[in-house]
Order: sequence, then structure tokens, then C-alpha cells
Amino acid sequence: MIGIISAMNEEIRLLVAHLDVDEKQTIANREYHQGKLFGKDVVLAFSRWGKVAATQTATTVINLFDIDILIFTGVAGAADPSLSIGDIIISTELVQHDVDVSAVVSMKKFEIPLLGVSHFKADAALIESAKRSAEEYVRSELHNTVASEYLRQYHISVPQVICGIISSGDLFIADAGKISDLRREIPGLMAIEMEGAAVAQVCYEHKIPFVVIRALSDKADHSAVTDFPIFVEHIAAHYTFGIIKGMLESSSVVSQ
Ligand code: ADE
Repeated sequence: MIGIISAMNEEIRLLVAHLDVDEKQTIANREYHQGKLFGKDVVLAFSRWGKVAATQTATTVINLFDIDILIFTGVAGAADPSLSIGDIIISTELVQHDVDVSAVVSMKKFEIPLLGVSHFKADAALIESAKRSAEEYVRSELHNTVASEYLRQYHISVPQVICGIISSGDLFIADAGKISDLRREIPGLMAIEMEGAAVAQVCYEHKIPFVVIRALSDKADHSAVTDFPIFVEHIAAHYTFGIIKGMLESSSVVSQ
């Protein structure tokens, strides 16, 4: 069974619409949709936003649905200046950028207390599968699935697919200064969002292979507030659908 969670309801809605059977359960304020998607057994859930919401959803999916792997999707703000809106980031490692207990105990900034880890590694095979599928989506489906007016609005032509570090924290960042601080503190940081590293910690503790896939909706600066909602509504769901479809259709992602 494959767990697929998104912080964006638009993405889950599109995937749910393509389930062969849709067995829906409501648990603690969230809907879990179980069925076959492109030939694979999946459970789909909309987590809502933030680390607590994502933790609660990931824990439920792991404990109640017996999943083998977890894929988390959504949008993110760009942290690296070489990136543009519309690029796709596949997580190699995830960091919780709002965790810092270094003032009271001798731990490094971002280290999770009692776990001794600051960077949670995503699964190598899932990274490779996500990368291949994202590249194929960009090459052959992007321009058929996203309306050209939105591609033009964000100057999206051939998005980059980059594997790199993603960090998460419970704040929407719209401040270029905050992003340069994070880039200095987390070398190699590519994107920031509000859920991935919490899901990564849950998967690490449950020993579940996972990957986080994010489309860049904004540059986490002053224009993020206007860029974000339009990107989510008109672009993000198509990216996720295309990438997940490619991953599920490839035989390598997981057994049926
Ligand atoms: N997700 C998408 N853009 C974001 C931002 N700027 N800050 C936090 N999470 C985000």
C-alpha cells in the first residue's frame, strides 16, 4: 500500500477523482480515501497545513493503513536564487528550521531533541522514481495540462527538476532576509515549506521509506503573498497528478 498525502486539497481531489474504488473513512477531522490508482493500492489524504497537521495525518496513514512507502506532495517557496516559480524540488533531506534547543542543551541548531538527527534522508529509490517521473511530466505533459495563460503569467517554459534539501517550519515565509539566513544556516537548502520535515521525522521513527515532492509556487519574498494562491489553484494540482501518475505506472515504485 502506498500512502499519498498532500498539503493541498486541490491535489488530493484530482487524484481521488481517478481512484478505481473510493473507500472513504473519516478519522480525526480528515478523510482517507483507499482504492486502486493506476493499478496500485493507495491511500490518499489531505493533511492541511503545518507540521502538527502533517504529523497527525502521516501517523494515521502509517498506523491504520499498513503502508509500505509514503509520498508527500505540495508546493514550496524557493530558497535558492537559481530557482524559479514552477521548478520542481525532490527532497534528498529534510530539516525542521523552527527547531532550536541549542540555548539550553549542547545540541546543534535544528537537531531534534533525543533523536540526534537534524537532516532526515529521503529514500534513494523513491527520489530516483520521482525525478524520472517529474522530468517526463515536464517533457511531455506540462504544456497539455496547465493552461498557457498561467504558464505565461509565471514565465514557466521548461521547469528544472532538482533534488535537494527542503526545510519546514510553522510559518509562511514572505521575507527575503529570512530566506538568506536559512540558506546560510542550512547549506544546500533549495526550498522551504510547512510540512515535509515533520512527515520525514514520523517516517524515520516508523522506518517507512518516503519522499517529498514540491512545486515552487513563490520565492518566499514579498511577492509570495500574491503568487502562492494562483499557483496552487491553477498549476500545482496538475503537476502532482502528472508526477504521481508516472511514479505509480512505473513498475519500480512498489509492488501492487
Ligand atoms: N509553501 C509555499 N510557499 C511557502 C512559503 N513562502 N512559506 C512557507 N511555506 C510555503
